[in-house]
Amino acid sequence: MLKWFKRKLIGINSLLARCIPVEYLQKSALGNWKRFWKEWNPDELFPDTVKMYQTFIDRHFLTTLKPESQVLDLGCAEGVDSIAAAKKCRHVYGIDISPAFLKAGEENTVKAGINNVTFLERNILEWCQHPDGIPDIERRIAGQLGDSEWSISHIILDWFFQYIFDDKDLMRILNVCYDILPSDGICLLKDSLASGDSRELFSAANGYMAVYRTPDECRRMLKDAGFAIVEENHLSFDKHSHYIFLLRKL
Ligand SMILES: C[S@@+](CC[C@H](N)C(=O)[O-])C[C@H]1O[C@@H](n2cnc3c(N)ncnc32)[C@H](O)[C@@H]1O
Repeated sequence: MLKWFKRKLIGINSLLARCIPVEYLQKSALGNWKRFWKEWNPDELFPDTVKMYQTFIDRHFLTTLKPESQVLDLGCAEGVDSIAAAKKCRHVYGIDISPAFLKAGEENTVKAGINNVTFLERNILEWCQHPDGIPDIERRIAGQLGDSEWSISHIILDWFFQYIFDDKDLMRILNVCYDILPSDGICLLKDSLASGDSRELFSAANGYMAVYRTPDECRRMLKDAGFAIVEENHLSFDKHSHYIFLLRKL
């Protein structure tokens, strides 16, 4: 499966990326996660990255969780981060668009013997554009979950931003994260970024697509949204790098 997946990967450059309407890219990327979820296996695809991420998360993120902390995991997939966080905190809310991933997440929490993760099927792009704004989002989640004390201190954004093609959407999501968190609230951001100094569109023959922004673009957006980078690390490959940031709301 891994060999097949690698063979199918074809990079297309940033020039071509600029000719493709962003709405088209976004629609394809959303559909992909519903179709290709079984091909997502970072342990096989990027073993060194997974080790680097794990060390960073253990050292810098999990240590900030308290027993009363509540965590929002955006683009949670099958709940790897949600479950690691849930072992250290009060509750984790995992949000993802893929029902198959969420079902796997439910099964993984049972295997892990924990019951403090709630998975929700949402398109985060739509979720962050709700006309009534954040208070309504909070009220709806709290109502649906029967938890009147929904109060998020930590947000995980793990390998998710590269599937948000429009910078305006990305800023909207970052603004929502900023609004949800208390001051000094913490965000963990992992993302694939371009190794060069221009952004890249990555596309595979099977339809998988991602945008690799440059590290400078990413840092600027984080700063504009009101987050300070407390720690960061990365591993570089040919065309892209895997970055991890610990962010604090200013
Ligand atoms: C590469 S996976 C990362 C999963 C997980 N955070 C991890 O690192 O193990 C990206 C996830 O983002 C989800 N996703 C992408 N766009 C989304 C959207 N607009 N709304 C909700 N989930 C989305 C996909 O379904 C997929 O599960």
